[in-house]
Amino acid sequence: MESINHLKGYGKVNPETLANPEPPKPQKRISSAVAISAVICLTLVITLAIAALIHESTTESHDESQPQSLSNSAESTIKTVCNVTRYPDSCFRSISALNRSPNPDPEAIFKLSLEISAAELSRLLALFKTVNSDPATQDCVSQLEEAISRVNDSASAMRVDPGEKALTGDKVKDIQTWLSSAVTDQETCLDGLEEMGSTAVEAVKSEMNKSKEYSSNSLAIVANFKGILDKFNIPLH
Ligand SMILES: *[C@@H]1O[C@H](CO)[C@@H](O)[C@H](O)[C@H]1NC(C)=O
Ligand SMILES: *[C@@H]1O[C@H](CO)[C@@H](O)[C@H](O)[C@H]1NC(C)=O
Ligand SMILES: *[C@@H]1O[C@H](CO)[C@@H](O)[C@H](O)[C@H]1NC(C)=O
Repeated sequence: MESINHLKGYGKVNPETLANPEPPKPQKRISSAVAISAVICLTLVITLAIAALIHESTTESHDESQPQSLSNSAESTIKTVCNVTRYPDSCFRSISALNRSPNPDPEAIFKLSLEISAAELSRLLALFKTVNSDPATQDCVSQLEEAISRVNDSASAMRVDPGEKALTGDKVKDIQTWLSSAVTDQETCLDGLEEMGSTAVEAVKSEMNKSKEYSSNSLAIVANFKGILDKFNIPLH
């Protein structure tokens, strides 16, 4: 969200102003020398503007000079969906990076958020399995396994035949329950480590930052799914 506004601020050249220079004033006699140098000058300005635009479009992937482009429509949909989350930036960044559709619907965006949560939880679990394990760490391993399986259950519930909408009102409730367990599982792991006075608490907290944010994002999206659909004028099935 921030980066978009940031990019908008880069309007070094306003293409509209340049493409439509002020209409010539109804002056009767402009000496041809002045007219010619004005034309040369204008040509130079336009050339520089085009060069600047080409430079911008080759150096900045989120080129705001193409408001009609499909990728911007995907960006704005992802932005609207992520706006309901507590960590909209991490939501937007992670989902945009994974999205390949020029025009994803909220349901597709939610599915991507589940993939992202599952992948990050799996990374964390693999990490936990490499450390020499005291009982609290072993508990964390089982809590993370459970969290992954909740996220997996949610992803499985989203699998339907092509063209069919997966998220019915009932499923939204189930998935909400599973995802809130997945969020709690991670808290429980941290609490356990803290209670055992584990020296690894801070390190684990920081390793868990993304998985907590991603699962919280998925939960927020599904919990607010009806409101999100309303924004796109799509009915909930
Ligand atoms: C995000 O939500 C807030 C209200 O919660 C609203 O004011 C803002 O316009 C929304 N932004 C986008 C990009 O949808
Ligand atoms: C979750 O799903 C992934 C991919 O489908 C699979 O590799 C993994 O074993 C599953 N994990 C659990 C705990 O169900
Ligand atoms: C992750 O870290 C960022 C930056 O320190 C912090 O703002 C955010 O609240 C953390 N997220 C969680 C879930 O703790």
